[in-house]
Amino acid sequence: METKLLQTDDESLKYAASLLREGKVVGIPTETVYGLGANALDEFAVKDIFKAKGRPQDNPLIVHIADISKFEVLCYDIPALAYKCAEAFWPGPLTMILKKRDIIPDTTSGGLDTVGIRMPSNKTARKIIEYSGLPIAAPSANLSGSPSPTTAMHVFKDMNGRIPAIVDGGMSAVGVESTVIAFENDGIRILRPGFISREDLLEITDNVIIDKGVLEQLSADTVVRSPGMKYRHYSPRADVTIIDADLDKFREYIKENSDSSTVCLVFNDSDTEGLNIKYINYGADSTQQAQRLFDALRELDDIGAKKAFARCPEKSGVGLAVYNRLLRAAGFQVIKL
Ligand code: TXA
Ligand code: MG
Repeated sequence: METKLLQTDDESLKYAASLLREGKVVGIPTETVYGLGANALDEFAVKDIFKAKGRPQDNPLIVHIADISKFEVLCYDIPALAYKCAEAFWPGPLTMILKKRDIIPDTTSGGLDTVGIRMPSNKTARKIIEYSGLPIAAPSANLSGSPSPTTAMHVFKDMNGRIPAIVDGGMSAVGVESTVIAFENDGIRILRPGFISREDLLEITDNVIIDKGVLEQLSADTVVRSPGMKYRHYSPRADVTIIDADLDKFREYIKENSDSSTVCLVFNDSDTEGLNIKYINYGADSTQQAQRLFDALRELDDIGAKKAFARCPEKSGVGLAVYNRLLRAAGFQVIKL
């Protein structure tokens, strides 16, 4: 199959929408990362998403809507807190787990009786959803296990020959996937941190907890609230270690432990100054780090890095999302100095 790259003019977006209506899978930009979209109500279309990604069948997909009236068509028993979150953060990078109605096939929800719903803010994504007239199931558009794609080229590298089209909407603004939350005991449980932070959610309710799976490695037999948390993720081929230390100690550590195949993920070009070591600058603050992390992880592979040492991001605000993704890329290897 030839994979076409489409632009964001209206004609191209209507063509992308027509492919979705025919039950095809299309790569679409969102404000978080690129998604692999298909008709969420069509189990055969959705099966093709799993096939294209090589994704385990029990890992549910997020359903994307462009207008709030679809909320109640897809879900029921929606708590008041969910409406408050929708008002505060939609359209935007927040996914809510709610009870699903029967029109959503089990294939889409990975066999669960709940579904993740999100209304993206990206204009191109919204137009494609509107033109299709459908709720769109979309996981991140990477091959299962690889870093999520933040450019159309990332998607092309993973999906060339597997899907008919990719819409090129430029670089993703946020760079890490949406915050995934569930509602329980009149509060919010964060299952996956994202750009909408714990601090943001605390403006809506003072009852916000972070699920254990966000910062800890779960054993294979743990029953998880969000199936995606148990899989290997975001893994470059390089052996990544997070160095949780101030700059002086970080420099000291890499000076003693690096060789010519080592690459460092740093905050500033000056971090490795004078040490004669390869580096990738992934941003000076949490917002930049979110934007660049996945591209940096893909670059590690492109340059054939064998070993990588990463400076440790902040663990608050959007930094928690960066740390959560980097932890998985590092297989939970952290050295605290
Ligand atoms: O930003 C995003 O959320 C992107 C863009 C494309 O919208 N999508 C995305 O989808 O990241 P995906 O499939 O790569 O990640 C969805 C995560 C997985 O960890 C999955 O297990 C979890 O959300 N999830 C989906 N439905 C769920 C459900 N009903 N209950 C618990 N977790 C769910
Ligand atoms: Mg994903």
